[in-house]
Amino acid sequence: MRIEEKGFSLPLILLAFLALVNYLSFVAPHECNRNRPVIFNFGDSNSDTGGFVAGVGIEYGYPYGRAFFRRPTGRTSDGRLVIDFLCEYLSTHYLSPYLNSLEPDFTNGANFAIAGATTLPKYVPFSLGSFGSLSYAQVIERIPSFISEIKDAMWAIYELGGRNFWVHNTGPLGCLPRELALRSNGNASDYDEYGCMRSLNEGAKAFNAKLEALSQELRSQMENSTIVYVDVYSIKYDLMANSTYYGFKNPLMACCGYGGAPYNYNPNRTCLDSGHTVCEEETRYINWDGVHYSEAAAAIVASKILSTHYSSPHLQFNFFCNTATFSSS
Ligand SMILES: *[C@@H]1O[C@H](CO)[C@@H](O)[C@H](O)[C@H]1NC(C)=O
Ligand SMILES: *[C@@H]1O[C@H](CO)[C@@H](O)[C@H](O)[C@H]1NC(C)=O
Ligand SMILES: *[C@@H]1O[C@H](CO)[C@@H](O)[C@H](O)[C@H]1NC(C)=O
Ligand SMILES: *[C@@H]1O[C@H](CO)[C@@H](O)[C@H](O)[C@H]1NC(C)=O
Repeated sequence: MRIEEKGFSLPLILLAFLALVNYLSFVAPHECNRNRPVIFNFGDSNSDTGGFVAGVGIEYGYPYGRAFFRRPTGRTSDGRLVIDFLCEYLSTHYLSPYLNSLEPDFTNGANFAIAGATTLPKYVPFSLGSFGSLSYAQVIERIPSFISEIKDAMWAIYELGGRNFWVHNTGPLGCLPRELALRSNGNASDYDEYGCMRSLNEGAKAFNAKLEALSQELRSQMENSTIVYVDVYSIKYDLMANSTYYGFKNPLMACCGYGGAPYNYNPNRTCLDSGHTVCEEETRYINWDGVHYSEAAAAIVASKILSTHYSSPHLQFNFFCNTATFSSS
């Protein structure tokens, strides 16, 4: 069985908080004083809480999930994802994947994130665009179409009543072990001081600049909306640059993969295949399987997101559920 993650991480997580009057009378959790939070998440494997495996009927095997759930849950990580930590912060339970047919619970929203969505045409409706296996030039060329897809999706959500958007930009793709392993090009000047590929990171930054501009544009066009743009790129790049400070080893290496240093990534023996090797559980790695972040890294990313230092405007993550307009709708 091969479930090759062909794409990069999807460029953003879009959390749309919808005001649904039905949900407002429930007991309010600690972090949401007035209203029960309702979150709709759009993203890819980085925030997929099991949609891909539910939809396709397969399972990521152990060691996926080993750090927290102690069993595979369909998350492409050893444990919790950033979205899980954000839910914990609001004292709400983890989001149920939209495709989950077994006892789904959508009372706090739904998760439309799907791993590998963009590589499988039948899942295209769930995709908001992806860098895929594109070259730098192709990425740059397609940025306008990615942005326009995201814009259309946000307008569609707005038309349905969504007023509160929480937008994450894309991370430093040029620091991912998979990209480093597959794209090594012998051009020494294309590597920065931390060993990341400059050209890919420039592509990510060019995309992010447009995404930020879109957020600004929509803020002025969408009446009564609040759009928070979070610079996750800077959070993740800081993690790479200051990995020792955060207690991580081998920032460019996948914990679970094959081949050893420098990247421990081999497309023929990924963490999903038999024959992979996996780092010891006590060892802190930023990267889990060559593409996705470990739970330890996600915990730090989530805490930095929640700090509001990387957000514009600097609103708390629970701002939306405590606003008065939310409850009057
Ligand atoms: C090498 O990488 C640098 C930095 O990304 C880039 O400006 C340059 O065009 C590359 N050279 C070649 C031959 O690809
Ligand atoms: C904006 O909010 C005002 C005051 O609550 C309301 O009257 C108006 O219909 C809202 N407009 C939109 C487009 O949501
Ligand atoms: C690394 O940490 C130092 C000290 O907090 C900070 O000034 C610097 O900006 C960080 N590096 C990156 C690339 O974020
Ligand atoms: C993966 O397998 C293909 C086909 O057998 C082979 O050509 C390629 O060299 C392998 N890649 C690595 C990194 O071992």
